Amino acid sequence: MNILLIGSGGREHAIAAKLIESSSESITLYAAPGNPGIFSIEGVRPAAIAITQHEEVVAFCREHACELVVIGPEAPLAAGLADDLNNAGIPVFGPSRLAAQLESSKGFAKEFMMRHGIPTAQFCRFQQSELAAALDYVASVAKQALPVVIKADGLAAGKGVVIAETSAEALRTVEEMLGGRFGEASSRIVIEEFMYGEEASVFAVCDGERFITLAPAQDHKRIGEGDTGENTGGMGAYAPAPLVTDDIMTKVHERIIAPTLRGMKQERMPFVGCLFVGLIIHNGEPKVVEFNARFGDPETQAVLAVLKADFAKLLYSAACGHLQSEAVQRVADGVACCVVLAAKGYPGEYAKGMELRGIAAAEKTGATVFHAGTMLANGTLVANGGRVLGVTGKDATLKTALDMAYTAVEAIEFDGKTFRHDIGIKGLQH
Ligand code: GLY
Repeated sequence: MNILLIGSGGREHAIAAKLIESSSESITLYAAPGNPGIFSIEGVRPAAIAITQHEEVVAFCREHACELVVIGPEAPLAAGLADDLNNAGIPVFGPSRLAAQLESSKGFAKEFMMRHGIPTAQFCRFQQSELAAALDYVASVAKQALPVVIKADGLAAGKGVVIAETSAEALRTVEEMLGGRFGEASSRIVIEEFMYGEEASVFAVCDGERFITLAPAQDHKRIGEGDTGENTGGMGAYAPAPLVTDDIMTKVHERIIAPTLRGMKQERMPFVGCLFVGLIIHNGEPKVVEFNARFGDPETQAVLAVLKADFAKLLYSAACGHLQSEAVQRVADGVACCVVLAAKGYPGEYAKGMELRGIAAAEKTGATVFHAGTMLANGTLVANGGRVLGVTGKDATLKTALDMAYTAVEAIEFDGKTFRHDIGIKGLQH
C-alpha cells in the first residue's frame, strides 16, 4: 500500500514509524516535507512537493498510486487539503476544512459544544469591532473570579491562550489580542472562565460516525518544571495516564466524543480523522478545554509507542468511513513517556544549527529518538526548530519507562539542550 504522510515533526516521525512497523501489508510511505528521522526509516521516501499547493499533492498521489494520505499538522487541514484530496477521490485521514474548525476556530468549537450540550467552560466571543464590549465583559468576569482565560480564535501555533491572573493583565490581553497581537488569528477572541483540575489528552480515531479511543495521555505544556513559565507546544508526555480512569473514559465517550461526532454529522461536516480532546478533570468529571483536529505532539510519540494495532488498516478504514476497530489489539501495551529536548530560548527566540550528537548511543538504552526539528547540513544532523528531539522510553511501568527515557536524554548532546526533569511525575503520584 502506498501512503503519503504530510508533516515534518516528532508526531509525524512517530506516525511514520508506526505505519511501517505495525502494518500487516507492505507499506511504501512517502513523506512531505518529512525530516531526517522520518527518512532514516526503511521504506520511507521523500515526496518533492509543496504541501500548500494542493494540486501538486493530488498529482503526486495519482502518479504514485497513493491509496491513503495522512495529514499530521493543523495548518493543511484548515487550508482544506483533505477536501481537495477527497474531491479527487483519494482517501484522507484528516478532517475537511469545515470539520477542522473544531480546532481552527475556538469560537466555533465553543458554540458547537453549547449547541450539543458538551461540557465545557462558560464563555463569550468577541470580534475586533467589539473591543469596548469585550473590555466591559472581561472586567466584570475578572471582578467575580480570577484567573480569566483569553483565547485567540484562530490558529496561533499553541501561543494563543493567556491565563490572566489579574484584572489589569486581562484588560491588556484583550486589547492586545483584538489589536492584532496574533494577526488574523486574534481578530476574534473567546473569553472564558478558568476551569480547575488536572489536564489530559484523549485521541479518538473517527470515521465520521464511529470512533475508537487510544491510550489517554498527559502533556506538559509549560516550559518550566512544576508547570511554570511560558506555554509551549508540549515539553513531554506519557501514556496511558492513570488520571483517566475507565469510569472517566466512559464519560468522555458518552458525553463528549459521541455527541461531537453526532453533532458534526448532523451539521453536515462529519469528522474523519483524529479528534484530540483536551480535557480538564475535576472530581472525576471531565470537561473540554479544547478540541484539536489532529494527533497531539508530543502525546502521539507516547500513545503510539504503547498501541498494538495494524495502524495503516486503522487509519485507512477510518478514512474510508468504515472504521475497523479490530485493527487495534491493545491500546496500552505497556507505558511510554516522551521527553522533549528543546533549543535554548524556546518557546521564545531560539538558536538553530547546533550539531546533534549521541542519538545512536541514546537508542542503545532501548529508547526511540523522534526528530521534531532537525535537518541535515552538509551531512551533519543539526537543530532546526524549537522542539528538536523527542526521547521516548517504553517499558512495563511508568517508572522504568521514565528511567529509560532520561538515561537516553543524558546520552544526547547539543549546545543549549533544554528539557524538563519532571515529565511523568504526576503520573507516578496517581
Ligand atoms: N501537545 C498539544 C498539542 O499537540 O496541541
